[in-house]
Amino acid sequence: MMRFSPPTVLLAAAVLLMAGLATVQSQTQLTPDTFKGFISVASGRFVDEDCAEYPVIGFNGWELMESAAGVANFSMVGDLDAVEYTFSQAAKDGQTTVRIFAHGINSTLPLQPSAGVYDERAFAGLDSVLDTAAQYGVRLIMTMSDYWLSVDSFNNYVDWADLQDNPDAFFWDQRAMTLFKNHMNAMANRRNTVNGLLYKDDPTILAWDLMNEVRCDCFPATLEIAAATPACQPQCADNVTNWVNEMATYLHTIDPNHMVTVGEEGYWAVYDYRKQYNPGNGWAQITGQNFSAQHSPASIDFAAIHFWPDLWEINQSTTFDVDAWFTQHQQNAQQLGKPLILEEFGKNVTLGNGSSNALEASIQSQRAPVFQMIYGLLSSSLSSGGPLRGVMFWQWGMSPDNSDSNNIEVAAHDVDYVSIVVPAATSALTMSKQQSPIAGCAQKSGPVLAGNSTVSGVQAAG
Ligand SMILES: *[C@@H]1O[C@H](CO)[C@@H](O)[C@H](O)[C@H]1NC(C)=O
Ligand SMILES: *[C@@H]1O[C@H](CO)[C@@H](O)[C@H](O)[C@H]1NC(C)=O
Ligand SMILES: *[C@@H]1O[C@H](CO)[C@@H](O)[C@H](O)[C@H]1NC(C)=O
Ligand SMILES: *[C@@H]1O[C@H](CO)[C@@H](O)[C@H](O)[C@H]1NC(C)=O
Ligand SMILES: *[C@@H]1O[C@H](CO)[C@@H](O)[C@H](O)[C@H]1NC(C)=O
Ligand SMILES: *[C@@H]1O[C@H](CO)[C@@H](O)[C@H](O)[C@H]1NC(C)=O
Ligand SMILES: *[C@@H]1O[C@H](CO)[C@@H](O)[C@H](O)[C@H]1NC(C)=O
Ligand SMILES: *[C@@H]1O[C@H](CO)[C@@H](O)[C@H](O)[C@H]1NC(C)=O
Repeated sequence: MMRFSPPTVLLAAAVLLMAGLATVQSQTQLTPDTFKGFISVASGRFVDEDCAEYPVIGFNGWELMESAAGVANFSMVGDLDAVEYTFSQAAKDGQTTVRIFAHGINSTLPLQPSAGVYDERAFAGLDSVLDTAAQYGVRLIMTMSDYWLSVDSFNNYVDWADLQDNPDAFFWDQRAMTLFKNHMNAMANRRNTVNGLLYKDDPTILAWDLMNEVRCDCFPATLEIAAATPACQPQCADNVTNWVNEMATYLHTIDPNHMVTVGEEGYWAVYDYRKQYNPGNGWAQITGQNFSAQHSPASIDFAAIHFWPDLWEINQSTTFDVDAWFTQHQQNAQQLGKPLILEEFGKNVTLGNGSSNALEASIQSQRAPVFQMIYGLLSSSLSSGGPLRGVMFWQWGMSPDNSDSNNIEVAAHDVDYVSIVVPAATSALTMSKQQSPIAGCAQKSGPVLAGNSTVSGVQAAG
């Protein structure tokens, strides 16, 4: 089992580290004129247009599209528009990448309210998020859809293709697959109303996730339920694997510029010996995920996993080994010859009596040890040439005054963000600048996208 270091020791260490790095801080802020091409993979690393390593360090942003479209609560942070605030702060703190839900998350504003029909307010919001990120030199991982939600999700395709009797048919039904391909087409060929770029030509997009936390519909409460439910048979994982490869292959044909990954938590399936490293007591192996098989096709450019210590009830389980979750995924990614990112991880904290002192104390004792562990893994992998090349926490705090309004947001003033996340990003950027160009890198140039939406080399919207 993983052991967490006492937070006071690690925070003291982080403060020392920060002091040592203070002199390089200004050189490692992101600049808005960096996008001359696309991020790709070479020698198991993410590489930029100059063949330098691109560390994928950042966070998950929730409701950014809604915020830009003016329907979220979080529209202003101080004097700044919340989207502008998010990317300006990310750039200042060396956070190279933000993972966004490139679709609605709420019935307030679906991007695709019915099959093939798009809400222009939502798309305009997304246009603005992309353009603002570009102005600050931050790149985006964009999810195409989500498993869990009621809009822009798996459930919609099930309804549109009339598959309510067997939702897992989503993974092989021709109508459902065509609808999903149509959606990928609409995304790739969207012309940004702010800067005129087609999304498929926009170097601001680092990669697409096909579906956040894709899984078979049998996601079970117990193994007994699973055993009695036909949809929960092991082959559903193979049907998901086929779907992943077919969708990713198709996406590359319409958008050859961007990388594609799955978007799942990364469980191993029934016939993989590594299923013993899943969390829980057996539920994970029958979700339909199959980390190894689903990240193995050439159409999947890199591997990605999630880590949810609270939801996986680590402390209630006698079997889940946090160290092994990461070690085995790194080994598996190494075997696949692909870099690995931890694209979601979060840690709930108790709010205590609601005072900011109580909250900071909870953050230090409950969240900081988890963050220290994660950024420590990243740092050792980056420096030793291991497969883990990026991490992204859940989730960026964008409340009206950027105060902490719930148990899981990370605000820019939080002690762990200041003393763990920012120094880790600074040190990763410094290291990437000191490396020689990555071997085997074929530069992927694209339109030059400078700060403030100056686009050259592409046809502007007309
Ligand atoms: C915005 O926040 C206020 C106060 O917390 C709440 O009453 C309201 O329902 C929220 N509105 C939306 C759209 O989330
Ligand atoms: C959806 O939006 C409504 C109002 O706009 C808000 O009250 C609610 O909390 C949102 N739900 C989610 C899941 O974000
Ligand atoms: C974009 O241009 C405006 C006006 O020229 C300027 O105020 C702003 O700081 C610029 N933003 C960036 C990110 O450079
Ligand atoms: C689902 O996967 C299994 C195992 O690969 C395969 O035998 C079956 O034909 C697939 N089902 C469909 C409907 O494609
Ligand atoms: C999952 O992937 C492994 C390794 O690639 C493979 O052996 C297995 O058949 C796949 N399917 C299931 C259901 O485990
Ligand atoms: C597990 O419990 C111990 C002791 O209560 C606590 O210190 C630790 O932070 C917990 N770990 C997680 C991942 O919640
Ligand atoms: C975090 O804790 C709150 C309060 O206990 C709970 O409502 C919420 O579901 C938790 N979230 C997660 C992701 O565990
Ligand atoms: C809330 O808890 C904090 C930290 O334990 C303490 O400093 C503060 O006095 C408490 N405030 C109230 C109003 O109880």
